[in-house]
Amino acid sequence: MSDTKVYRVQPAWKKDALIDNDTYQKWYADSVKDPDKFWGKHGKRIDWFKPYTKVKNASFGGNVSIKWFEDGVTNVSYNCIDRHLKKRGNQTAIIWEGDNPYDDRKITYNELYEHVCRMANVLKKHGVKRGDRVTIYMPMIPEAAYAMLACTRIGAVHSVVFGGFSPDALAGRIVDCESTFVITADEGLRGGRTIPLKENTDKAIDIAARNNVTVKNVLVVRRTAGKIAWFDKRDLWYHDEAASVKPDCKPAEMKAEDPLFILYTSGSTGKPKGVLHTTGGYLVYASMTHQYVFDYHDGDIYWCTADVGWVTGHSYILYGPLANGATTLMFEGVPNYPSPSRFWDVVDKHKVNIFYTAPTAIRALMGAGDEWVKKSSRKSLRVMGSVGEPINPEAWEWYFNVVGEKKVPIVDTWWQTENGGILISPLPGATDLKPGSATRPFFGVVPQIVDNDGEVIEGTGSGNLCITEPWPGMMRTVYGDHQRFIETYFATYKGKYFTGDGCRRDEDGYYWITGRVDDVINVSGHRMGTAEVESALVSHDKVSEAAVVGYPHDIKGQGIYSYVTLMAGVDATEDLRTELIAHVRKEIGPIASPDKIQFAPGLPKTRSGKIMRRILRKIAEDDFGALGDTSTLADPAVVDDLIEHRQNKK
Ligand code: WTA
Repeated sequence: MSDTKVYRVQPAWKKDALIDNDTYQKWYADSVKDPDKFWGKHGKRIDWFKPYTKVKNASFGGNVSIKWFEDGVTNVSYNCIDRHLKKRGNQTAIIWEGDNPYDDRKITYNELYEHVCRMANVLKKHGVKRGDRVTIYMPMIPEAAYAMLACTRIGAVHSVVFGGFSPDALAGRIVDCESTFVITADEGLRGGRTIPLKENTDKAIDIAARNNVTVKNVLVVRRTAGKIAWFDKRDLWYHDEAASVKPDCKPAEMKAEDPLFILYTSGSTGKPKGVLHTTGGYLVYASMTHQYVFDYHDGDIYWCTADVGWVTGHSYILYGPLANGATTLMFEGVPNYPSPSRFWDVVDKHKVNIFYTAPTAIRALMGAGDEWVKKSSRKSLRVMGSVGEPINPEAWEWYFNVVGEKKVPIVDTWWQTENGGILISPLPGATDLKPGSATRPFFGVVPQIVDNDGEVIEGTGSGNLCITEPWPGMMRTVYGDHQRFIETYFATYKGKYFTGDGCRRDEDGYYWITGRVDDVINVSGHRMGTAEVESALVSHDKVSEAAVVGYPHDIKGQGIYSYVTLMAGVDATEDLRTELIAHVRKEIGPIASPDKIQFAPGLPKTRSGKIMRRILRKIAEDDFGALGDTSTLADPAVVDDLIEHRQNKK
């Protein structure tokens, strides 16, 4: 679209920027022409105990084997902490801002070192070894960071589970990676409300035990001092344990391709997949993208509002910033507590220079009114970022005009859990901005758009987004299921990584992500498989069948629309609707609560029994004038009933 607004790079953005447009062009060309040389050079941005001699050994064909820097030896916690101590021991590593605005803390690199070493020694004392999987189910408190870094210090593999997930969801993740050590807190605190993390953990452990995985220990951080159940043989208080061990712990020597962490994410089918990331390539990529995408300079105060339960929290609260010796802010609360000024109050309080958040938060704050923003100065802000879902141009403009007062560049960063770090994004000093476009690929990233038959679309056009060349930060496998890795990402378009996103490329070569083209929905930046919500619904004894689709939602981006067929003889009542919502919350967690439930006597199916989701999506969008061809339906009359009882009448 040639009428799209363009915001040119302002002189002030360019002035001290690390990368200008010429440098971007040159580095990008180099990175694609000779990845070995390019990454061979940039791989040295982290410290290696033993330098690598091989750089890239990766291919998207055949068995899909991805290796980077494979003979190098390093350690992530060493790179995030120890190597900074000489120069920055007394610099703040983590600013912690509590849910309550009067609650905050600063942790220096020296202090971080001690906390992480103690936590690592606690893990060792209780038998956690290299390669063991440790589940972390924590609120946004510094101990979550200590826990993750402590795992990396001893070579254990962490699996962080978002604190908003239910006991069932937590249990599933514990069982899948056979994790026998869990780190949690008594309770979490968000927006003034407590979350029963320990109680949920207790329940999850019971469920896991019924599935043949016995958790041996639970390390509990005291956050609220609320009442919790205690099992002497199994449960350990972090404060007692940490006091009983030494404040030093030697970092384990890890090979570049040793597993670093597992993070479960939803796909279009089946249960969540354990995305596995490894050590060297991940850290090189996370730290390099953090530096250049945010134009991070020494001394900047950097704040990413994500939760450590998501990949953004892994790469851009912890690993990227800390590897760069940054001061990273960790926020326990929510954007609108105690008031919708909270983000901007925190920006002013801690003089935040770089601010990274999600479109859903931007839209919610936009809805609350400009006055909440204007109460603050925000003059420390230099770069602002967006991540998690497509940002609509209105929200982008508001972020730019009102929050940034037309002076602060916005980096709309597109990437995925599987990617490890940002793949498509502007660079503040290099890239002219277009509201709603993630713009251009990062170094080493080769996007390609293909049509449904896999034909490559050159130049301008829309289709399915693939990446054709391996990059160091990408996932290596699905934990325990390499075949699923190949089938999920490399089978749709053979030999290419398929992202699951739709995309358009414009005349300037800019990429516009249009959202998922598979059965994944993105609710407030949280990725969810419709299949997961469906299986939660059908696990209710009054439900015989369910189909779930997304629909456009003003704040959440997408809302969850469920079509439910009840068992014979069950009445479709309001109470049952409430009961089903509660059931999904229990099975998955509050983030999966259906926004709309439509009781449907029948679902539109093809003669072979396949549910036609296209039709369900249209009805959920209240756009049934364009239903397309319904002649292949087994019973076309079903559609009339669905339309009549639709829940989204405009
Ligand atoms: C979507 C989050 C448009 C996309 C880091 C992707 C985006 C999914 C953007 C991954 C963006 C993320 N513009 N869409 N800037 N960022 N997405 O794994 O659909 O939680 O496939 O990773 O979010 O979500 P995930």
